[in-house]
Amino acid sequence: MEADDWARAALRDIEAAATLAACESLRVQYLGKQGRMTAELRGLARLPADERRARGFVLNGVKAQLEAALAHRREELARGEHERRLAAERLDMTLPGVEPQWGTLHPITQVRRRLADVMLRLGFTLRSAPEVETEWYNFDALNMPADHPAREMHDTFYVDPPYVLRTHTSPFQIRAMREAGGELPLRVATLGFTYRRDDDATHVPQFMQMEGLVVDRGIGLPDLKGVVLAVVRDVFGPAERIRLRPSFFPFTEPSAEVDMSCPLCLGAGCRVCHTGWIEVLGSGLVHPRVLEAGGYDPNDVSGFAFGWGVERVAMLLYGLKELRPLYQSDVRFLRAFDSWDV
Ligand code: PHE
Repeated sequence: MEADDWARAALRDIEAAATLAACESLRVQYLGKQGRMTAELRGLARLPADERRARGFVLNGVKAQLEAALAHRREELARGEHERRLAAERLDMTLPGVEPQWGTLHPITQVRRRLADVMLRLGFTLRSAPEVETEWYNFDALNMPADHPAREMHDTFYVDPPYVLRTHTSPFQIRAMREAGGELPLRVATLGFTYRRDDDATHVPQFMQMEGLVVDRGIGLPDLKGVVLAVVRDVFGPAERIRLRPSFFPFTEPSAEVDMSCPLCLGAGCRVCHTGWIEVLGSGLVHPRVLEAGGYDPNDVSGFAFGWGVERVAMLLYGLKELRPLYQSDVRFLRAFDSWDV
C-alpha cells in the first residue's frame, strides 16, 4: 500500500529524531492540522463507502503507531537529556569547601583605634589637621623660629615654600587653639601621619603620632601625669607605672620625657629595656609663646601637651624589634595580629 510509504518514512524519522524540538516538528509535519495524516483522513470522503471503512481502519492504526512512536522517542530523548545533565552538572559533595579568608585589622589600625578610644573616654575631642603644613604652624608658632637649632632635629621634607610635610602632630595645637577662639576648657587630641627623612629598622619616613592638648585655668604637671598614666595603663595594662624625666622641647616649658615601666618585664629589667624603663612620649606644659600663638593669654590660662609615636606603641605592645614590617604588606606577618575587640 503506497499509503504506508510516508508512514514508514515518518516512523524512521521519528526514531531518528535527535532532539525534542525535532520530534515536535515531525508531529506537526505528520499529525498536525495541516499535516499528512489530516490530509489522508480528509481523502477518505472521496472513497466509496466499503473502501472507506478499510482505509479508515488502516489510517487509525498508522496514527496510533505514529503517536506511540513519538511518545516513545520523546521519552528516550528526555531521559538522555536528563542523564547528560546529571553527568555534566555533577557536583562532588565530598570536595572540601572554599574556606573564607578572614582578615584582621592592621596592627597600626588596631593601635590607632585603641588610642582614639581612650582619648575619647577621657573627654578629649578628636580632630584632624593637615599633613602638608606651613612652616609657621609646624615650627614658628611652636616657638621654633628659622634659626632655632631644634629645627635641625626634624629632618624635614620641604615642599614648595611655605609648605613642609609636618614633622610632628604638634602644629595641631595651634590650629585647635585658634579654632577654639579662647574657649575653656580645651581638650583635644589628634592622630595622624607625620614625616621625617629617617629610614632604618626602627624609623620610617612616614609614621604616625598621637597628640593630646589641654588648656584651662590652673593646669599643671599633675594633670599631665594623671592623663598620661591613664592612657598608658589603658593601652598597656593596669600594672604600668610612669616617670617624668626633665627634657627639652621648644613648645613646652617645663618639658618632660615620659618613661613607662617596661611592658615586657614589668619593670624588672630585661634585654629590651635594660633599666626596667622605656621612653614612650614627649610632653610638657604648653609654652607661653605657644599659648599666645594660639590666641590664649598665658597669664590667665595654662595647659599641657603630650605626643607619641603610634608605631612605637605598636612595637612595644607586640614586642616587635623592627618597625618596617608594619608597612610591608606581608600577610603572613599581618595575620599574626588578631583583631582587638575595640
Ligand atoms: N612633638 C614632639 C615630637 O615630635 C612630641 C611632643 C608633643 C612633645 C607635645 C611635647 C608636647 O617629638
